[in-house]
Amino acid sequence: MSKENTQQPPAGRAGLFQEIISHCKEYGFIFPSSEIYDGLGAVYDYGPYGIELKNNIQQYWWKAMVQLHENIVGLDAAIFMHPKTWKASGHVDAFNDPLIDNKDSKKRYRADVLIEEAMAKIEEKTEKEVAKAEKKFGESFDKGMFLKTNPNVLRNTEKLQAIENRFKKALEGNDLADLKQIIIDLEIACPVSGSRNWTDVRQFNLMFATEVGSVADEANTIYLRPETAQGIFVNFLNVLNTSRQRIPFGIAQIGKAFRNEIVARQFIFRTREFEQMEMQFFVRPGTEMQWYEQWKETRWKWHRSLGFAEESLKLYDHLKLAHYANAAVDIQFKFPFGFKEVEGIHSRTDFDLKSHQELSGKKLQYFDTELNQSYVPYVVETSIGLNRTFLAVMCNGYRIEKLEDGSERTVLALPPFLAPVQIAVFPLMKKDGLAEKAREVFDLLKWDYKCFYEEKDNIGKRYRRQDAIGTPFCITIDHDTLNDNTVTIRDRDTMKQERISIERLKEVVNEKVDWKKGLR
Ligand code: GAP
Repeated sequence: MSKENTQQPPAGRAGLFQEIISHCKEYGFIFPSSEIYDGLGAVYDYGPYGIELKNNIQQYWWKAMVQLHENIVGLDAAIFMHPKTWKASGHVDAFNDPLIDNKDSKKRYRADVLIEEAMAKIEEKTEKEVAKAEKKFGESFDKGMFLKTNPNVLRNTEKLQAIENRFKKALEGNDLADLKQIIIDLEIACPVSGSRNWTDVRQFNLMFATEVGSVADEANTIYLRPETAQGIFVNFLNVLNTSRQRIPFGIAQIGKAFRNEIVARQFIFRTREFEQMEMQFFVRPGTEMQWYEQWKETRWKWHRSLGFAEESLKLYDHLKLAHYANAAVDIQFKFPFGFKEVEGIHSRTDFDLKSHQELSGKKLQYFDTELNQSYVPYVVETSIGLNRTFLAVMCNGYRIEKLEDGSERTVLALPPFLAPVQIAVFPLMKKDGLAEKAREVFDLLKWDYKCFYEEKDNIGKRYRRQDAIGTPFCITIDHDTLNDNTVTIRDRDTMKQERISIERLKEVVNEKVDWKKGLR
């Protein structure tokens, strides 16, 4: 059976996201945490296919960052760290989000996110104008000219620029009163109550605190790390002294981070427990902007290698720089709920190492033999959320296709090297020795690929189930296999079936599941 050219999102944008969430649950990717007790808000567990996909993304990142860069080494620091770490890093004093409550719904929001969302709506208006004009004028449409001359677009752009300037000033000046005023001026209403009855904006620290030992007093308070990066900074000397690295070099780490987010929502997009994949690149002071540009480019290419189209990605320069940064940009992905950050790239100056040096009294410096001088290195950081990348990969791959016979199929067009299962092996039927032969093929392939064996239901149903979890190949063993040692191999995307010998299977599969292609 073949498919039509058209691949359509199954519902409106909000509907599409709900479908993806249901799909994740139905097919064993993601479950609500402790669901038998009605779940815990914004906490999720990864099921049998979810953990495979998450592991594959994580390994792909590790290969791209550590294996392919001889000057990047790995680390796995503990989640608990000495409390002074968070004083030095600035998190105790400055890791705050501005919160605002709606007095009618009693719902709590991040004031900056409310404003960003309102700005995105204005931007969407421009996109709609462009789409309308594109449709009207067809091939003769000149987008550049339209953006420069259309009065509606010009009005929107001007309005957006004015809001952006004011928003930036309020964030930089920590002007909470003006943040509230912007919300009022933009006539932002609570999505739940519909009212504009807002409290003042207040600062809220995002770190989770807990106690070590049996005595719960101030001295025993420790924090769950809100970023993995500090584990890298405090180990700078240990790694430098044991890895034989010279500057410029990087330290990479994957691990859990925790933030008491004011609003944790949009499924696994913003949760209170999540995983980060971070890399701190230590450079000579004064060269950081050059490395910042280089890492922006390298990381952009990595995102494109996940199959994300150019138009699904965007670079977004930060309006307000974090307390440690002199430049920062987000790589955003176009989720069904809009463009949102997946990765942040920050030029962190020497802020962290210098602060740890001051508070610990230990010299965190590097002796540069070329310059014959010691200095505190500058740092360029790449920091990506594993769970957000997972969500982006799911959103990018999920589609419903209309087939020629009028039926539909749900497909997860995941990059083959990330798919939770790479090969499904099916005997056409259980009898006549086909199941035994299929087991033989499964045993042959399982050493190199994540395989799945199934003999239940008709073959069409089995194909559909594999399409829905993103399996790139299904192999069917039939009566001809017993005679000539050939099988049919079905491609998930084209649904085409090819007859090939068992000896050629690895060659055909390898060509498609090769993770290296997108990075070369
Ligand atoms: N060390 C720098 C740092 O932590 P960040 O921009 O706050 O920077 C980096 O976080 C990445 O971590 C984000 O781009 C996002 O993908 C992920 N992240 C941050 N908060 C998150 C949350 N509450 N839930 C899921 N992912 C989150």
